[in-house]
Amino acid sequence: MSRELKIEAARAATTLVKDGMRLGIGTGSTADEFIRLLADMVSQGLSVTGVPTSEKTRVLCEELGVPLTTLDAMPELDLVVDGADEVDGNLTLIKGGGGALLREKIVANAAASMVVIADESKLVETLGKFPLPIEVNPFGLEATRIAVQLACKKLGLTGDTSLRGGHEAPFVTDGGHFIIDASFGHIPDASSLSSALLEIPGVVEHGLFIGYADIVFLSSPNGVKKLG
Ligand code: 5RP
Repeated sequence: MSRELKIEAARAATTLVKDGMRLGIGTGSTADEFIRLLADMVSQGLSVTGVPTSEKTRVLCEELGVPLTTLDAMPELDLVVDGADEVDGNLTLIKGGGGALLREKIVANAAASMVVIADESKLVETLGKFPLPIEVNPFGLEATRIAVQLACKKLGLTGDTSLRGGHEAPFVTDGGHFIIDASFGHIPDASSLSSALLEIPGVVEHGLFIGYADIVFLSSPNGVKKLG
């Protein structure tokens, strides 16, 4: 997706940001564009307090002068603005391509409303073409990977479950966990998969966001479409 399209989706989300808001701030290249626009608004006098969904987002906000606090200090938020890897017609999302899914979900859960910004290529009929990120505890990694495969097989889902970054240099999340990317190709029943994954002790969280997004702004060369 071109940078211009990311900026246009992000710009649409800024119209929902009001003075005094407690704001969750997402992670990823589209969220970065939102942060840049937000920083401009702050420099022109907007007063907001943000909670970043990742260390990467925290650093960018600090660099650009977006006022931040922690979720512990401000546990209830008005709005979170975040990107997504896939969106379906029910506004169910796959997130975690940037590895921040756990904090993103905790922040989304603390927010009264979630706005997603993406380009139209992220809209799919059935989720699952994008590999589903599953955040796991490093302890017993292989046992957890096998348990994930078995649970998914029971739901008719098979495919590669690979450790992000590989065994030599695994990607480590802000929470100190690893990520398994599960390439199912399609996820017809996101709720059943969510429940099955969360029953596995080594699974910390997964990138299916069900019932979180209220509005999705999808940009294309023809303009920005609002879903929800
Ligand atoms: C990070 C995410 C991102 O929001 C998602 O990967 C989309 O990123 P981008 O805007 O760079 O396409 O979930 O964990």
